[in-house]
Amino acid sequence: MAENQNLDTLKTPGAVFFIFGATGDLARRKLFPAIYSLYREGKLDEDFAVIGVARRPRTQEEFREDVYRSIQEFCRYSSEQDSEWHAFAQHFEYKSLDINNIDGFRELREQTEQLETKFNIPGNRLFYLALAPELFGSVSFNLMKGGMLDGEGWNRLVIEKPFGYDLESAAKLNEEIRKVFKEEEIYRIDHYLGKEMVQNIEVMRFANAFFEPLWNNKHIANIQITLGETVGVEERGGYYDHAGALRDMGQNHMLQLLTMIAMEPPSRLLAEDIRDEKVKVLRSLRPYASHEEVKNNVVRGQYTHGSAGGKDLPAYREEDKVNSESNTETYFAARVFVDNFRWAGVPFYIRTGKRLPVKTTEVVVEFKRMPTNVYLGQKHSLEPNLLVIRVNPMEGIYVKINAKKPGSESEIAPVAMDFCQSCIVGINSPEAYERLLHDAARGDSTYFTRWDEVASAWSFVDRIANAWRENQGELESYPAGSWGPKRADELLEEDGFHWWPVNGQLEDNVVWLKN
Ligand code: BG6
Repeated sequence: MAENQNLDTLKTPGAVFFIFGATGDLARRKLFPAIYSLYREGKLDEDFAVIGVARRPRTQEEFREDVYRSIQEFCRYSSEQDSEWHAFAQHFEYKSLDINNIDGFRELREQTEQLETKFNIPGNRLFYLALAPELFGSVSFNLMKGGMLDGEGWNRLVIEKPFGYDLESAAKLNEEIRKVFKEEEIYRIDHYLGKEMVQNIEVMRFANAFFEPLWNNKHIANIQITLGETVGVEERGGYYDHAGALRDMGQNHMLQLLTMIAMEPPSRLLAEDIRDEKVKVLRSLRPYASHEEVKNNVVRGQYTHGSAGGKDLPAYREEDKVNSESNTETYFAARVFVDNFRWAGVPFYIRTGKRLPVKTTEVVVEFKRMPTNVYLGQKHSLEPNLLVIRVNPMEGIYVKINAKKPGSESEIAPVAMDFCQSCIVGINSPEAYERLLHDAARGDSTYFTRWDEVASAWSFVDRIANAWRENQGELESYPAGSWGPKRADELLEEDGFHWWPVNGQLEDNVVWLKN
């Protein structure tokens, strides 16, 4: 069957989904609920099976009970232990497996073939590795050795970040996986690409006559991308202290969002064409030529003790599993340039941090100011127009324009026209993992990262990380619950800009027009 044959149909083709790491957090919080939502929405072919794979022993009943509990707790749809549930649960089986033991993979093959016969599944197999990346290579190899890839249909590998620690380790990891899977069989997840509004960026840009003509350095003054989180490192201190904000959010989610904003219109809306355009953006990022340039353009911070909502918050160095002398950044902001014809001279300011005042993902496009000569001598200043794309937790967009204040002679007031998608009753956007699983099963790799994207992102990020490694002193601090180090404000002030308030908190005089 041609890889992309099912691309436009809503249903996935019949397939077995293997969830390696089936007793872990990702499976419980995201993957089982996503499969159930797809099932409830009729997007999953009836001829499907799920095999949960993990080391610890579990009976089939215990495993199905785990799946049930995860759906009760984390799914957008609730379920009763009724006949519908039992019909669904029959498609789930468990396999206890030591991933270093080839014989276990051979047993898994037998179990798979039985399920394929039982549910009339045409040999398609999707392997989701919800495992530590160090294991990706050996699991792939053992899948091959154990005969798991000899079925009659397609095989696909779905893997999670972190994909390496730097370009060198990422390349090594890629090489190991590529010994077994072809690039087009590998689906590297960046869950931000599964978010409704991230996918909507493309539609808004390329389907609206009044955005695209303005989408360039003639009309746009700067672009601000904020990925703010209120949480600290929770129970992930061990991983996070090794990674830091740059690797955890910057190399992937942040740069991916930037590519969606900055890419050229693809010639066709097909996966490879879109990914070709995205990788061009990554290759056009102006590399910081020296440690000095990193220092001048990148801010690095770590939260200290603080408070939010009347609650005391510990310093990062006091968090569980974090080194008490850690120099890992929990915040970073950068001034980035995309050196191509469209964006020459337009700064992109990006920032992300833990323990910021709000959980929000937003992109603010600030347009150039209009000439003010028409209004000279009058008491108001004209604010620049803004287009704000709200990705999370609110979904929607708003534009800030200038309008005559009703009833006044000529007074101008800013007005925000708001399209709040998540406020509309009945719109219940699918979770990112639902879309991504659905896409992977249909062979649509548009919203997965291709190796050349991953590699280009690492080579940009590595320069920052290298400069930091040699210059530990540059780490600034910020109190937990604040907007990060002051230096991040100075970065914009140097260019005559400021961070626009996020989370719909515009100036008091703005009139909101809401849907
Ligand atoms: C993950 C990071 O990739 O994204 C986490 O590892 C972060 O540290 C999370 O909290 C944020 O995702 P979201 O969808 O909640 O914005």
